[in-house]
Amino acid sequence: MSERVRITEVGPRDGLQNEPRILSVHEKAELVRTLMATGVDEVEVSSFVSPKWVPQLGDAREVFLAIAPDKPRGTELSALVPNEKGLDAALDVNQAVGSRLIDKVSVFTAASETFSTRNTNASIDQTLERFEPVIGRAHASGLRVRAYVSCVIACPFEGRIAPEAVADVGARLLDLGADELDLGDTIGAAEPQDIARLLDTIFSRFGHRLRPTSSAGADLVIHLHDTFGRAAACAVEAYNRGVRSFDSAIAGLGGCPYASTSQRRAPGNIDTEVLVAALAARGGTTAIRLPKLQEAGRWARAALRSKDPIA
Ligand code: HMG
Ligand code: MG
Repeated sequence: MSERVRITEVGPRDGLQNEPRILSVHEKAELVRTLMATGVDEVEVSSFVSPKWVPQLGDAREVFLAIAPDKPRGTELSALVPNEKGLDAALDVNQAVGSRLIDKVSVFTAASETFSTRNTNASIDQTLERFEPVIGRAHASGLRVRAYVSCVIACPFEGRIAPEAVADVGARLLDLGADELDLGDTIGAAEPQDIARLLDTIFSRFGHRLRPTSSAGADLVIHLHDTFGRAAACAVEAYNRGVRSFDSAIAGLGGCPYASTSQRRAPGNIDTEVLVAALAARGGTTAIRLPKLQEAGRWARAALRSKDPIA
């Protein structure tokens, strides 16, 4: 039986945040345009984070303004915001274009204290304190809110993470009003049985709608990095257990710079083409036009191979 699967393309954000060459605003806008043309459900365009922490994405406002005239009906656009300053910058973009160009903002924390501190200079508790006004004000402005939990399987600094720790953080994010809970295998450590164990814990704690007391519920999203080539099998495991929303990056770009260690650069996300093929083989359908996706992949690979701007 065919089942609709929702795909969020995170290449322009998770992909480019860890690339040594900083693409120009024109190149980033072109990448986002080629991705929007694929028919993907959502494109995570950039992050409104400190440019000192992630210089690769210091031009988030300019990229959004550049793509504003090209946003197609049916594709949502989103951006990461770590705090109210980031939310202000996102709302400012919508105000500047006079419409809801940015549909959703994403807050992010972790199931590992060490990773949270390294990534945001804040403990898990402190990140959640920051999110309370962010989520309230985003909703008041008509934006949806995604909440990422990183290190749901393992942390590059603390090792294995218990599924219960993930569920504890998830419960607090849902209590704050997050519309989506996005579970990130930040370093691509998962094997399918780890995903099975994690989802058993999550579903037994929250049910499949995650927030059963709310009529709208909240959606569960799985965000896989592909260090050992197991991400497709992990996605299939999640699909078989009822997950219908996934993140991926064009050409398998990506990785959190604060998940890199001195020995190893953080791994890329699962490649969108690989994810779509793996889910399609199990009956998962998307709105993505495959030739357009392949075109976007070729464009992204060429842009990152090139020493000079190509757009
Ligand atoms: P901090 O240094 O503790 O912040 O950083 P602060 O509040 O003390 O401010 C310091 C400076 O940053 C000030 O500027 C602020 O104005 C500025 P200064 O006075 O020095 O010139 N600042 C900002 N500038 C722009 N936008 C903002 C902002 N906030 C403060 N929003 C902070 C705290 C959270 C800002 C910092 O740690 C940060 O930006 N971290 C982001 C790290 C990041 O983006 N990591 C990658 C994304 S997460 C990820 O990839 C995982 C994921 O893919 C899922 C998975 O795979 O697991 C989502
Ligand atoms: Mg990631």
